[in-house]
Amino acid sequence: MRQIGTSDLVVPPLGLGLMRLDPAEAESRRVLAAALERGIVLWDTADLYFYGRSETWIGRVLKALAPEERRRVVVVTKGGNRFTPGEEGWTWTPDPAYIREAARASARRLGVETIDLYLLHGGTLADPIDALVEGLEGLVREGTIRHYGLSSIRPAVVCRALERGRFVAVMSAYGPLDRRPEREILPCVRARGASLIARGVLAKGLLGRDGPQRIAALEAAGAHGYPREALLELYRQLEAIARETGDPEGSVARLAYRFVLAEGAVAVALIGARTVVQFEEAAGVLDLPPLPPEAVARIRNLTRVDDYTVRG
Ligand SMILES: NC(=O)c1ccc[n+]([C@@H]2O[C@H](COP(=O)([O-])OP(=O)(O)OC[C@H]3O[C@@H](n4cnc5c(N)ncnc54)[C@H](OP(=O)(O)O)[C@@H]3O)[C@@H](O)[C@H]2O)c1
Repeated sequence: MRQIGTSDLVVPPLGLGLMRLDPAEAESRRVLAAALERGIVLWDTADLYFYGRSETWIGRVLKALAPEERRRVVVVTKGGNRFTPGEEGWTWTPDPAYIREAARASARRLGVETIDLYLLHGGTLADPIDALVEGLEGLVREGTIRHYGLSSIRPAVVCRALERGRFVAVMSAYGPLDRRPEREILPCVRARGASLIARGVLAKGLLGRDGPQRIAALEAAGAHGYPREALLELYRQLEAIARETGDPEGSVARLAYRFVLAEGAVAVALIGARTVVQFEEAAGVLDLPPLPPEAVARIRNLTRVDDYTVRG
């Protein structure tokens, strides 16, 4: 179990991301049931996911749980993007009054009095950060949210927010193919005693079970700064490391999660599975030993650390 920043939220190292789980699909319900079964009880949604329907779905599921099971679930949701259901697109709206209403609406859809962790779903350096923090503190005081954090891949935005408010968590893309947080975001997160919630660990499936097929389908230029052929070679090398470190199936997906979880400032890594098969592959991490430091070092030697192109 891991503590999220300085909060009172103590959770298993894997959480479930709901962005790709369409509430209308039976497979989504099976994934959620499998998560509960596995004790993966941090559920990450957003008002934007399926335009409110993801939160409404989670609200229904929470209501149906037995009280002792309900108490174990930690709900994370996000807001700040104004959208109209049924219309494409959204607009980042860093207005404390808007965010207050958005958080209250999320709590209503989720059917909870208090959202465990509420994240600003974006941000720029042009945002009125002190007013936003004041607004978030107001939401804590009124009991709509217990803790707050932000979801961002802009290092200057993350570091400024952490300096100015009691943000307990930062959600960012982090994995063997995207090590950008190591340069600036992770040092700020550590310095403030916050935690990283890692998303995008599998680089949208490139490091998943069918990674080689997905990589082979890329243009020759590849992805994440690796030409296609180099990515294929890297996948094979990671597979070998997985086998040598106690995973007989050599799952690169599980190795990616173990790599991310070896970073002390990462409290939780989100599983972005869309199917039960994908989910079970990642959840198998819970049955494996932590990745030894030598293996972490080998993966670091094989992979790039890039800078963000947009900082603020
Ligand atoms: N805060 C934000 O701005 C933000 C942004 C993105 C995500 N998130 C959160 O982070 C969660 C995870 O992010 P992500 O969706 O980018 O994660 P990801 O795990 O990198 O990508 C998920 C996709 O990878 C494929 N996949 C997942 N598990 C697999 C497996 N074991 N084998 C093969 N393929 C697999 C699936 O692709 P196919 O669908 O093609 O099968 C799935 O849709 C989201 O659900 C959401 O909760 C937050």
